[in-house]
Order: sequence, then C-alpha cells, then structure tokens
Amino acid sequence: MYLASTITRSCLRLSSRTSTLWNRPASSSAGGGTLTDTHVEINGKQYAVDGITNATQPLLDKLGQRLHHNPIHPLHLIKRRIHEYFEKTYRKPNPSSAPLFTCLDDVHPVVTVQQNFDELLVPADHPARAKGDNYYLNKDYLLRAHTSAHQAEFLRSGLDAFLVTGDVYRRDCVDRTHYPCFHQMEGVRLYTSAELFPNEVHPPSLFVEGSEDTAERQSTHNPATTEVLEKELKSTLEGLVRHLFGADIKTEWAGEYFPFTHPSWELNIYFQDQWLEVLGCGIMRQQILDQAGASSKVGWAFGVGLERLAMILYGIPDIRFFWTTYHRFLDQFEPARNDINAQIQFTPFSKFAVCHKDVSFWTTAGKDFAGENDLMEIAREEAGDLIEWIEKVDYFENPKAKPGDAKFSSYCYRLNFRSHERQLLNTEINDIQLRIRAKVADKLGVILR
Ligand code: DAH
Repeated sequence: MYLASTITRSCLRLSSRTSTLWNRPASSSAGGGTLTDTHVEINGKQYAVDGITNATQPLLDKLGQRLHHNPIHPLHLIKRRIHEYFEKTYRKPNPSSAPLFTCLDDVHPVVTVQQNFDELLVPADHPARAKGDNYYLNKDYLLRAHTSAHQAEFLRSGLDAFLVTGDVYRRDCVDRTHYPCFHQMEGVRLYTSAELFPNEVHPPSLFVEGSEDTAERQSTHNPATTEVLEKELKSTLEGLVRHLFGADIKTEWAGEYFPFTHPSWELNIYFQDQWLEVLGCGIMRQQILDQAGASSKVGWAFGVGLERLAMILYGIPDIRFFWTTYHRFLDQFEPARNDINAQIQFTPFSKFAVCHKDVSFWTTAGKDFAGENDLMEIAREEAGDLIEWIEKVDYFENPKAKPGDAKFSSYCYRLNFRSHERQLLNTEINDIQLRIRAKVADKLGVILR
C-alpha cells in the first residue's frame, strides 16, 4: 500500500482500463482546474507554475466531478454504507447519543506539501513524495495523494472522531484497478483515558516515560493503552467489513509500516479464492496528536480505498466504469436509490475486442528505467479512457553496448486499448499510437525502435 515500507508502486501486474473520448461530460471543467503556461487555476485560486508542476489538464478536469455525491453512483453507495455502519455502531454517551463520528465529504483536494507529507511525519527523502508518483501544482501544493492529508487540520479543529471521504490523485500504472484519480475514506478516533478504559474506576495513565519505540508500541504509550487501542481498532474495522461483505467474510491482519502510525496493520479479506488487501491502519503517532494540540489523548486511524471495496462488492471488473456516464452502467445501480443496501451485481454489457499496439525503445537506463509512470501518463493523456492496460512485454540488454550507451537496453510495452461502449477503429488507435510514440520520444529521452 501507498507509503508502506516496501514501495511497490510499479504495478504492471494485472491488466487494464480508461479515456478522453469515453463519455467525459460536455463541460468537464465544472469545479475543475485549468492549466496555462504560467499557472494552474482551481476554484478561482492561482498556483504559479514552477519546475515541479506536473498536474495535467485531463487530471484537472476530474476535479469537481463529485462522483461520490451522485445518489446512485457505487462510490456514493459505499460511502453511505460505511457511514451507516459508524452511525449505527458508535454513538456519543447519553443523553445526546448523537453519532460519534463526524462525516466530512466535501473537503477540497488541493493540499500543501506540508499537509500531505510533513504533518504526517513522512521523511523528506521518502519515495512517496516523488514527482513521478504525485500530481504537483507547484513545489508547495499538490492534489492530495491520500485523505490522511486532512488528519491534522481536523484534529486541530477539535474533532475527536471523524471520517473524511474524497478524491485522491496519484500517478500510477495503467490497469483495471488503477486510475490516476480514485477515492478514499480516512477514519480517525481519539480517546481520553476514561474513554479508553470505561470500566475502570481509576483509569490508568495513557502514557509512560519512554525513549525508544519497540516493534510492539510507541515508547511513550502505556502497554495497556496500545493493547486496548489495537483491540478497539481491529474490532471496529472487522465490524466494518462484516457490515459490507456479510458476517461470514474471512479476514486476516498483517503487520505494515506507515510513517504516521505505529504499530500499523493492513486488513485482508478472503474473496473469490484470494486474499485482497482492503485497508491500512494503525495507532496514530503521538507526535501528530501533540502537533495538533491533542497531546492528552491517543488515537487510531485507518484509510480505505472506495473503488476497491465497490469493485469487490458489486463485481465491477474495470475501474474506468466509475467515470462513465454511459447509462448502461449507472442504470444498474438505480435499485439503490431508495435502499443503499440493495443487493446489486454488475452485469457487463459489452465484450468488445482489445486492440493492442507495442511501443519499443532504446534507453541508456538499463534495468533502472525511471520513466515508466511518465509513459503511463502519456498514454492516458493521448488515449484517455480508451487505454485499458499497459504491460511490459520485453526487456533486453544490447550485447554490443556498454552501460550509458544510448542503445544500452531495450524496452517494449504493450498498450491495450478497449472501450466498453463500442468497437474501436484501427485507424483511431493508429492515430493515438502515433501521438504516444512522438511524445515518448520527445519526453522520455529514449530512442524509438
Ligand atoms: N494513507 C494511506 C494510503 O493512502 C492509508 C492509511 C494507512 C491511512 C494507515 C491511515 C493509516 O490513516 O493509519 O495508503
């Protein structure tokens, strides 16, 4: 998972999906952004372009589409189902017994580098900050790469329990489960000592003197604090997946690493004969709470990808579907308009053939070719949602060349194009392919073969 210790972002593993031609609404810039030579403009605010700027116009067009606010959109349904779980299960004590968690789902996706990384203790040299993995507006601002970016501001505003849902943006591979804009929900819950140990007449201190963290706990956390927080976190999230997938769903916890939590875990569920990772979570770093003025409390946090859950729950095979306005997709979710828990299984409505084209080139890079995400981006820019997946199909080193020679190593990527709505024409794909080739030669510093 993102920001995890082993960065496995290069993901030419599965296959598929996405498009410009593919049903972008006529006016896609409602609430979107505009890129000019000198600035990026979003919501009337201008961000001066600098050497770091890499947000693209197609991406800026996604801003403000508010998919998860459309009452029959599967992302909306998932969001509501999660809200429903938290509302039903967690209430403030009597007499108010109001829902404990505040639900925020309209928080703007432009954040500062400080919010996205620094306030979450992501080290200055952490690979998650790379330009190749994010959409920067300039050196100070980016499109949030995760909803964790809002933890600190809502803690500072005094909230103790909240859920933040929003669109997040990452440069990534092209396949059926990855899209440069997707949706996450962040959950945070803080506790005082009395809240964490409700049955103790004299609740223990949450904290101890400490200097070094161990694998099991943060140094200043009382072992009992960590133990109860872990139990509360895990039972909350196991309850959530049972609420979504049914009481029989098999779950498994695995240790993880995130800069903002310790200890950290991921939750896997067993679905259709395989284990699938569905969320990351952990005990919040006390430094984050201290910085946000909540030093007397402790807390846990989690982050979950909504497309992933919706794809599993509704059997949606390709992430591009979330962006279509084609009625044959959204019509299938009509039954949920009046019942968010309606049982729906998506029925594919098309089986158009894939059309593939290869792009091969020489590079000096050897095995360390760093331009893979740039290639993905170029393909998305030129093909929009017509590109389904991209896979590396060949690599070799030229026996007659030395490292550093222009023709030292050869890469071949297969670009697979398909629309779910119509058969693509060879001529249109040829045109797209030519434009991709030209941009690859121009932008990646490689020699086309
Ligand atoms: N922000 C992480 C990501 O995007 C997910 C995550 C992991 C959120 C652990 C959390 C957490 O709040 O505690 O991959």
